[in-house]
Amino acid sequence: MSNKAWGGRFQQQPEEWVDEFNASIDFDQALLDEDIQGSIAHATMLANQNIISNEDKEDIIKGLKDIQQDFHHHKLEFKQSLEDIHLNIEHELIQRIGDAGGRLHTGRSRNDQVATDLHLYVKKEVQEIQALIRSFQSSILTLAQSHVDTIMPGYTHLQRAQPISFAHHIMTYFWMLERDDSRFTDSMKRIDISPLGAAALSGTTHPIDRHETQKLLGFEYIYENSLDAVSDRDYIVETLHNISLTMVHLSRFAEEIIFWSTDEAKFITLADAFSTGSSIMPQKKNPDMAELIRGKVGRTTGHLMSMLVTLKGLPLAYNKDLQEDKEGLFDSVRTVKGSLRIFEGMLNTLTVNTDRLNETVHQDFSNATELADYLVEKQVPFRKAHEIVGKIVFECIQQGIYLLDVPLERYKELNEAIDTDVYDYLKPERCLNRRKSYGSTGQDAVRQQLKVAEDILKAK
Ligand code: ARG
Repeated sequence: MSNKAWGGRFQQQPEEWVDEFNASIDFDQALLDEDIQGSIAHATMLANQNIISNEDKEDIIKGLKDIQQDFHHHKLEFKQSLEDIHLNIEHELIQRIGDAGGRLHTGRSRNDQVATDLHLYVKKEVQEIQALIRSFQSSILTLAQSHVDTIMPGYTHLQRAQPISFAHHIMTYFWMLERDDSRFTDSMKRIDISPLGAAALSGTTHPIDRHETQKLLGFEYIYENSLDAVSDRDYIVETLHNISLTMVHLSRFAEEIIFWSTDEAKFITLADAFSTGSSIMPQKKNPDMAELIRGKVGRTTGHLMSMLVTLKGLPLAYNKDLQEDKEGLFDSVRTVKGSLRIFEGMLNTLTVNTDRLNETVHQDFSNATELADYLVEKQVPFRKAHEIVGKIVFECIQQGIYLLDVPLERYKELNEAIDTDVYDYLKPERCLNRRKSYGSTGQDAVRQQLKVAEDILKAK
């Protein structure tokens, strides 16, 4: 007899290399815990519905738990000819407990079984990703709290624009991650659904109770349509998207870290533990962790695209194409979790070079908008003020000086309204604390922002 669960109808054994192409056991063994959890719920329901005896149920549950233990002790061997985790476990169960094991699959198909495993897996992993996001957010907040008064150049077009607070800059990533977290939370109502009992596609003639397995597995919702239950992979697309966007956010932050740690910027110094050296250039200290995080967006975006394309035009209900939903998903989950952990470690151990940042904002024209605002306060129309300041900036560049170095006589020649108070007005720290608008980089506004962020984290 064939060792295939479906061997009865077949006269020939598939060849080994065909089995190899067909099999998913090499990667779907990652679903072993979920598969056992789903099977225990199914067996419990079958017994409660008098479809199998209590004795068989007990044997099944014990057998499944033993298999689970053996797996975690690396004592379980899988066969590629048994295709996937579902058939490998079932085969092993029948070997161990005999006929009772053969009753487990009553009123169930691998189609609703794999869907159940995936829903359980995605639910668990999304919760873990969210916990890592929260932890990273709290590290960002802690660093921001000690840098409200640290001034740095704010950029647009990667050109120095206006001075900002370092806390304000890094808090941007707190808010990006906050949106990521809420996106994952929103998606939960489309993840937390039980497909179990949909069977192959049309439901079953056995008197099963789908609501019972839903409850046993802790699913909030249940699929209303058995075809939809086995065909739906929307929640995987959505999770891959949410992971990709989180990775895009991490890559933007990573890019800043890379730039800030260059010899040209020297805004931060990364801890040795999160940097690597060069095999040829002894002086090198490279931001490899940040570069890897930036680079890994390629694969998470790729997995999202590949899942969308797999689903395009796919007829109902289950098709083997759907086996392609797993490797990309597992890889994206591993990637985002690893990236969040590494980024947090890198952030917690870097040094912010406050003196260097302060020196930087004294050696640029990021206070030029202030001078224009100063003139506006002295009743000069903004457009005119803009032109005057542009002219002074040009002169300064020619002479190799900055706005704070321009002598008062020269200022007065350009506009009489300019007085000695201009020098205090142009100080970068004054540029900051004059900004009072809600959500701005002014120290008071930033402190207010940090308080809101703190309350959000506390409420989680
Ligand atoms: N290994 C399959 C998958 O991952 C399990 C479902 C197989 N169902 C079937 N009818 N061949 O999608």
